[in-house]
Amino acid sequence: MSNDDNALITKRHLQFFDTALQDTLKVVVCETIKPEYGLYMWPCSVVLAQYIWYHRESILRGRTCLEIGAGTGLPSIVALKCANPNFVIVTDKISCARTSFEENGITTFKANSTHSMDYPVLFLDIKWGCFTTELLNISLFTNNKIFPEVILGSDCFYDPMVFDEILSTVYFLLKSCSEAPNHGHNCPKFLCTYQTRSADWKITDQLERWNMEAVHIPLESFDAGGINIAASGMPGSQSIQMMEITLKRFCT
Ligand SMILES: C[S@@+](CC[C@H](N)C(=O)[O-])C[C@H]1O[C@@H](n2cnc3c(N)ncnc32)[C@H](O)[C@@H]1O
Repeated sequence: MSNDDNALITKRHLQFFDTALQDTLKVVVCETIKPEYGLYMWPCSVVLAQYIWYHRESILRGRTCLEIGAGTGLPSIVALKCANPNFVIVTDKISCARTSFEENGITTFKANSTHSMDYPVLFLDIKWGCFTTELLNISLFTNNKIFPEVILGSDCFYDPMVFDEILSTVYFLLKSCSEAPNHGHNCPKFLCTYQTRSADWKITDQLERWNMEAVHIPLESFDAGGINIAASGMPGSQSIQMMEITLKRFCT
């Protein structure tokens, strides 16, 4: 998703608030508008970013996380800016747009590089359902060979055709983390937001097949019940849901 002269880049300014602690975080997201494709920030990503912001002291501190289908990568940017993760791996089916990261002062580095960096972030091409060398060797890319414990995904369940592919990749990541020798006591999880586009779309059968289970997370529980999260004008009238998916019986 490289940007070229025919692409129009627009900047969207967001500001996350914590009124109780008088804390705020400003983020800029660059959207690419081009005749052939769009690289937009979807309403789901603001909701997932708000979840990370709300739980910034606990959810990712010292942990490695991986975002799938990241697009403009807002949840990963918020994670890097306020949640003190050990490492963030940003993935999409083809090269992710890094413009938004750079706009927020997050510099990048190449795979296998040992260069020092401002933020612990790595970009990888990961296509759902494809078990490439990059995916199989994912722990080699992080500083201390740790598997991601938290998988993030916003608006990935946008077409039933890809549900099984997404869950096969997520299953592989959660299973690899749970079986890793240096895995801690935290339960590996997939935190995802999705937009209700059809009442008929369900992932119940796929979850059963992949031996996983989901818990619904009410948006009100992390101050995401409104229509204008982080002054983004999103999610507006869209119906967004959030769930936490784990391997069955792993966390009980
Ligand atoms: C609806 S967009 C959501 C983007 C971003 N997460 C957000 O919420 O703003 C879906 C994203 O999934 C990515 N995607 C689609 N099919 C994919 C696949 N088979 N493997 C990996 N990523 C894929 C697209 O490139 C796109 O970035």
